[in-house]
Amino acid sequence: MTSRPIESSMDERRRFPPPETFRARAVVTDERVYEEAGREPEAFWERAAGDLHWFRRWDQVLDWNLPDARWFVGGRTNMAFNCLDRHLTTARRNKAAILWEGEPGETRVLTYWDLAREVNRCANALLSMGVRRGDRVAIYMPMIPELPIAMLACARIGAVHAVVFGGFSAEALRDRINDAQAKMVITADGGYRKGTIIPLKRNVDQAIADVPTVRHVLVVRRIGEAAAIHMVEGRDRWWHRALDGMRMDSPAEEMDSEELLYILYTSGTTGKPKGIVHTTGGYMVGTYLTTKWIFDLREDDLFWCTADIGWVTGHSYVAYGPLLNGASILMYEGAPDWPERDRFWELVEKYGVTVFYTAPTAIRTFIRWGADWPARHDLSTLRLLGTVGEPINPEAWMWYRKHIGGDRCPIVDTWWQTETGMILITPLPGITTLKPGSATVPFPGIEAHVVDEHGAQVPPNAGGYLVLRRPWPAMLRGIYGDPARFRREYWERIPGVYFTGDGARRDEDGHFWLLGRVDDVINVAGHRIGTMEVESALVAHPKVAEAAVVGMQHEIKGQALAAFVTLKEGVDSGGDVTDELRAHVTQKIGAIARPDRIMFAAELPKTRSGKIMRRLLRDIAEGRLLGDTTTLADLSVIQGLRERYEEDVQD
Ligand code: WTA
Repeated sequence: MTSRPIESSMDERRRFPPPETFRARAVVTDERVYEEAGREPEAFWERAAGDLHWFRRWDQVLDWNLPDARWFVGGRTNMAFNCLDRHLTTARRNKAAILWEGEPGETRVLTYWDLAREVNRCANALLSMGVRRGDRVAIYMPMIPELPIAMLACARIGAVHAVVFGGFSAEALRDRINDAQAKMVITADGGYRKGTIIPLKRNVDQAIADVPTVRHVLVVRRIGEAAAIHMVEGRDRWWHRALDGMRMDSPAEEMDSEELLYILYTSGTTGKPKGIVHTTGGYMVGTYLTTKWIFDLREDDLFWCTADIGWVTGHSYVAYGPLLNGASILMYEGAPDWPERDRFWELVEKYGVTVFYTAPTAIRTFIRWGADWPARHDLSTLRLLGTVGEPINPEAWMWYRKHIGGDRCPIVDTWWQTETGMILITPLPGITTLKPGSATVPFPGIEAHVVDEHGAQVPPNAGGYLVLRRPWPAMLRGIYGDPARFRREYWERIPGVYFTGDGARRDEDGHFWLLGRVDDVINVAGHRIGTMEVESALVAHPKVAEAAVVGMQHEIKGQALAAFVTLKEGVDSGGDVTDELRAHVTQKIGAIARPDRIMFAAELPKTRSGKIMRRLLRDIAEGRLLGDTTTLADLSVIQGLRERYEEDVQD
């Protein structure tokens, strides 16, 4: 395991305390929250839980039997009830919950009442199709209101949703449906992306062709005729027909705190994606409080988190966290450069977005497009900005602050993971003095450390592994169907602590600087890709004998994938093999996993014990060893490099 700093920020000296005008109205301004929560974390989380609705109050806040944590033990609650019904008896009843804009430009507004009605109707439709508490439902949809409606409908009746990002291929979808043993799939006839139609329903047809568990497919009509889909008699039903005549009276199931809320697949260090399991009570409390405090939500805010709901950021900070807080959210279906490169800024101006949350890769793209695009729009409603997904370079942070935030908005750089369920390292915008490039400090009640491979704390500014010592409410409860892998990957790497897989350094003020992944997971444009997954996809191609995939630095994406491929005897690397392999990976996993570079090698460099020398490959991919080569046909070259690297090999 080696950690490679993405960018050294040791000499970053700029400081940004909360502006007085911001602080004066901020939700949290009292620094004592850190000390109080640190001293009595359970009492701290219990207070937050008290803001929410419980059918039955918990008997115990936390039962911690490493690695198994149970939060709000004995409590009974319902996520959808807390996101909806709780607001209907207040002035929020007719407040906009979702302001939606489709890529082609249509708009929809759903108030909390509208949303509750649709969720109830959908819940009744699911029940009528035989979905029951505990059943898994796969959701494969574009960013349309029916996506959170479907999730909330599942939550309402106690079904477990497994949302699969719409950019995944039919094969990737099939693997996830099979792993979750889903009984039903909810999808749309298609979705829009840069003007083209993504054939979601056709992918579902292909994915479930021989999957016996799926009984029904519920299909939202998003595109219409142009999607040219086929509905399978007895299996497929249109959403609008299924919901037609359904009543708004679906009772919210009284769920145990520890009953499953959802499964979300993410990449790990093996070829098989893992189904991260989140449960009801703790996840609800964690996303509720972090959304409120970190995004400083007030009643009149319009919150826009640009993530797709197919990723955890969308689960926690498009759907659940904001709705638990009764906030208004903006949801946009399409691409930031459709029809022009100012679509996001046009939306901010048109709707009056106040809190905006996006990823560093998007910010770097905006920088490349130029500051003229945001300058065309009135962005003065913005008061707080956020980033997530990867380390942000200090210069990108400064650009974001100036060109989007008008030099007045604080920026919350939030560190967390699919597994953590909620943000764990972050500024509180009314309290924390910001440093460009640092995610700053653990959220109150969270204990994060930087340690060496034996678990010993390293001195300030020394790099090490980021670990968490104390359970937090929204933490994963396991990997679906694989408890051994759960223990092995997160709890046994450094015994007794949660191993994040990230490298970090902590400065003399106790602020954290994230340094990127220390395992074989690569963060491409903020999306997690396992190198093994891409390697497995490549070797499944008939022309490929062996493949190794590594991450290389990339100006916009942060990291990009470089694949080293050894072809089978007699296959020529000329012609279209590169295109063929890239298309093959797209078909196996999805376009997000398509390697940026494919290099052909006569042989892959391996250690004496047979391990692929990934550090050497990274150095080659980034041009440090051989310049900009595409083939390593000469065996003697590889032999020579291997010898140079053999002595200091670390993996
Ligand atoms: C990375 C996304 C630096 C990190 C919420 C983590 C970050 C992985 C940050 C999780 C940040 C996320 N600074 N790195 N603010 N936020 N990461 O599961 O490597 O898609 O382990 O969850 O993203 O990615 P995931």
